Amino acid sequence: MTIYRIRSLDGSVEVAAFSCGSAPLDLYIRRYASQDVRRNVARAFIATPETDSRRLAGFFTLSAGSVGCTELPESLARKLPRYPVPVALIGRLAVDSAFQQQGLGSILLAEACHKVAQASAVLAVAGIVVDAKDETAAAFYRHFGFVPLPGQPNRFLLPAKQFPA
Ligand SMILES: CC(C)(COP(=O)(O)OP(=O)(O)OC[C@H]1O[C@@H](n2cnc3c(N)ncnc32)[C@H](O)[C@@H]1OP(=O)(O)O)[C@@H](O)C(=O)NCCC(=O)NCCS
Repeated sequence: MTIYRIRSLDGSVEVAAFSCGSAPLDLYIRRYASQDVRRNVARAFIATPETDSRRLAGFFTLSAGSVGCTELPESLARKLPRYPVPVALIGRLAVDSAFQQQGLGSILLAEACHKVAQASAVLAVAGIVVDAKDETAAAFYRHFGFVPLPGQPNRFLLPAKQFPA
């Protein structure tokens, strides 16, 4: 079983070789992620095998965002103010093809939720939102309890109450 280290994106990891089956996600980590970090529009986290700290096995990004109350599922909107509420956004999450279907996607998602739960002690969020790029991604997020936002079939939410402890 591979053991991974998760850390902030840094210049020592080989982004050029990353390939997850989705060209836009490959391009993002190769070319734009570090730029977004520098501009403070995203934080990016990478997973590398314990035995090879340069090999990029997977990554995710986190940013702040907001969702209008009319976009939320009725059951959640009822308990929230009638103005846009703050959320955390998982902008991107991907696992290199060589490491897929071995549990790393779940590890990255759990780590993203954990980081948001920690951050929410000082910066409130009502949930975590993610945009699924395709049906594969949508199925992955539904599998972990994310619910679709009404009228936005590719946008999913995990309410703060369901953050892992
Ligand atoms: C989607 C992705 C992140 C999953 O990563 P992974 O490492 O292969 O997933 P895991 O091995 O951790 O699987 C975790 C669980 O999710 C399930 N799962 C994985 N992909 C799934 C899918 N497409 N549909 C339904 N369930 C899925 C697995 O069955 C597993 O369930 P289990 O824990 O009950 O066995 C990865 O395949 C990927 O990067 N794909 C390309 C990019 C992409 O689509 N990113 C999504 C964000 S837009």
